[in-house]
Amino acid sequence: MKRITVIGTGYLGAVHAASLASLGYEVLGMDVDAEKIAALAAGRPPFFEPGFDELLSEQVASGRLTFTNSYADVAAFGGDDRANTVHFVCVNTPQRKGEYAADTAYIDSVIDGLAPLLDVPTLIIGKSTVPAGTAARLTSRLRALSPAGDEMRLAWNPEFLREGYAIEDTLRPDRLVIGVQDEESEAALRDVYKPLTDTGIPLLVTDLATSELVKAAANAFLSTKISFINAMAEVCEAAGADVMLLSKALSFDPRIGGRFLVPGLGFGGGCLPKDIRAFMARAGELGADQALAFLKEVDAINMRRRARTVDLAREQCDGSFLGKRIAVWGAAFKPDTDDVRDSPALNVAASILLQGAQVTVYDPKANDTAAKNFPTLNYADSALEAARGANLILHLTEWREFRELDPNAVGEVVAERRVLDGRNALDSDLWRAAGFTYRALGRPS
Ligand code: UGA
Repeated sequence: MKRITVIGTGYLGAVHAASLASLGYEVLGMDVDAEKIAALAAGRPPFFEPGFDELLSEQVASGRLTFTNSYADVAAFGGDDRANTVHFVCVNTPQRKGEYAADTAYIDSVIDGLAPLLDVPTLIIGKSTVPAGTAARLTSRLRALSPAGDEMRLAWNPEFLREGYAIEDTLRPDRLVIGVQDEESEAALRDVYKPLTDTGIPLLVTDLATSELVKAAANAFLSTKISFINAMAEVCEAAGADVMLLSKALSFDPRIGGRFLVPGLGFGGGCLPKDIRAFMARAGELGADQALAFLKEVDAINMRRRARTVDLAREQCDGSFLGKRIAVWGAAFKPDTDDVRDSPALNVAASILLQGAQVTVYDPKANDTAAKNFPTLNYADSALEAARGANLILHLTEWREFRELDPNAVGEVVAERRVLDGRNALDSDLWRAAGFTYRALGRPS
């Protein structure tokens, strides 16, 4: 049975490692963060992801999934058969401080740490989202640093998983894309993914640069789709039209489709915002900046939604936040995750706080991660507790829990029955029937 290592055990790497173990492979997860590795080795996920708790503990208990923080263990995994071990690199590529470009320092450091220890020809597969040209650059670096020299192989296999659906997206992806430079790498990757391709999942083989660009293009397209409908929301507000009805009517055209056409507070998280910026920066370096100039507008529309939400909230507070209590429902950048990276909800909450409101946040899973990043906000243990005495409720992350609340019960605890639905996800009729003033982005009052 094939042995696989996964270097970098964040969302992507940890789920990838446990999913591969569930297919029967022997998997070693590696991370430089000793605390994270200790938690994973004990079967405790360092983040919230539906179903991951069970998957991780099952795979750790089976003995197929182990963890380390040593590159020497990674290089030796497989013993005498180590030339057949494949190494996936799943470290993150954040936005560089003060710039738009992606920071590939973590991937570089994996190659620098591991390559000198790989004494037999080995395949390394990058999964991180990287600027076009990174894989080619890393191939040279790998070959220069490894004792196996030019026999070292590198491939790229971008990941399309969504947080909240990480396991499903890993085991049942829409497609697999592999960027390769030689037949041997292609055969090894086809072998790894055989259990998935056997179930009919398409696998596309490309060159390195195309595989890197597929990922950047996919996230650019998704971001554009969201900003398109949010631009329509702006026009709807100006024209007194309803963007939810508009979106629904568009969605019947199969060429458009309804997914990623939900208007609201816009996109956040650790991927879409930084990926479109890194894509623009890379296109600029390549002399193709004009081709992606529209992404600047996509970004601008997205950021305007946060500002518009703050303005609409202030309007609902009779023009000033001073002395007003605001309940913020939601802190994660989207439901079913505790990830608060570039969270529109927290961005709005912090901005309202700075304008003099007393803000209490509640998120079903992200209170702790939010409090670490935004310690000046107040946090409550339930939606009702956050709403107690509030002059306005802001619904900013569309957790199911919020949709299932009885507006009448909420009405009992608030000071004023006013709700602003930043995600167009609450049942407006129900809230209005309970006496609430219901406002939403892109819809008439
Ligand atoms: C995104 C992509 O969807 C994945 O395919 C990709 O693999 C991943 O980035 C990545 O690059 O790693 P993710 O960041 O987990 O996944 O979240 P999404 O489900 O894409 O949502 C992103 C943001 O868009 C959220 O803030 C969400 O609230 C917002 N959104 C989404 C909308 O505002 N409207 C929509 O219709 C859909």
